[in-house]
Amino acid sequence: MRIMLLGAPGAGKGTQAQFIMEKYGIPQISTGDMLRAAVKAGTPLGLEAKQVMDAGQLVSDELIIGLVKERVAQDDCAKGFLLDGFPRTIPQADAMATSGINIDHVVEIDVPDEDIVKRMAGRRVHPGSGRVYHIVFNQPKVEGKDDVTGEDLAIRPDDEESTVRKRLEIYHEQTKPLVEYYGKVAASGQATYNKFDGTQAVAAVSKEIVAALG
Ligand code: AP5
Ligand code: ZN
Repeated sequence: MRIMLLGAPGAGKGTQAQFIMEKYGIPQISTGDMLRAAVKAGTPLGLEAKQVMDAGQLVSDELIIGLVKERVAQDDCAKGFLLDGFPRTIPQADAMATSGINIDHVVEIDVPDEDIVKRMAGRRVHPGSGRVYHIVFNQPKVEGKDDVTGEDLAIRPDDEESTVRKRLEIYHEQTKPLVEYYGKVAASGQATYNKFDGTQAVAAVSKEIVAALG
């Protein structure tokens, strides 16, 4: 099963990914998590990506496409995978299609921009795993600590309000066109396309996704 999550920054892609990967037993491929790991490790890729990410801009298509192609070729992706944060431009979607990497299900999570700005201020993440929490809506078992490792949670550097607004602007310009793009893919019978109301509680969104995907 090959699933793709589509939605604005903060719509809840990473949150639902945690649930979907366990439910369907497929690995999550989060380009954002991969880039943050590279930043943390101080690799050349990380050094290049850091400034771009902190400014709320998109990393180059070429770089991201190479990263994802390499990842989906790994053994654990043979049974399927869950794309989180990729593709997010038309050239990225075209590169997938021309490489024969097709998607079975597109899952769009829809949240209005103003809700997102409010939500991001309360996000906390576990840097090691990418697990996501919220100080009100999705609390860790112990305040400020990751549920699995007990390690400290952190605030993402790009969650500052002005950066969130920049990311939203870029989402509308460069990623939103993928709604129409994958709508056409679905209309030709090559994938399913389902849109979910991401303003509902986390568990309610998960329940609807399972109901749609089976
Ligand atoms: P990336 O990490 O992909 O960030 P993003 O797309 O901006 O999305 P987020 O991770 O911010 O949000 P999310 O939808 O996962 O929401 P979450 O579940 O965390 O990318 C970061 C950067 O890397 C980009 O800006 C770019 O520079 C670069 N990059 C990555 N991929 C790229 C690509 N393909 N091409 C080029 N550049 C790329 O939830 C947010 C908060 O809300 C959490 O606190 C959560 O607990 C809470 N929450 C979730 N669901 C609910 C709910 N239903 N109700 C209430 N609260 C909720
Ligand atoms: Zn995310």
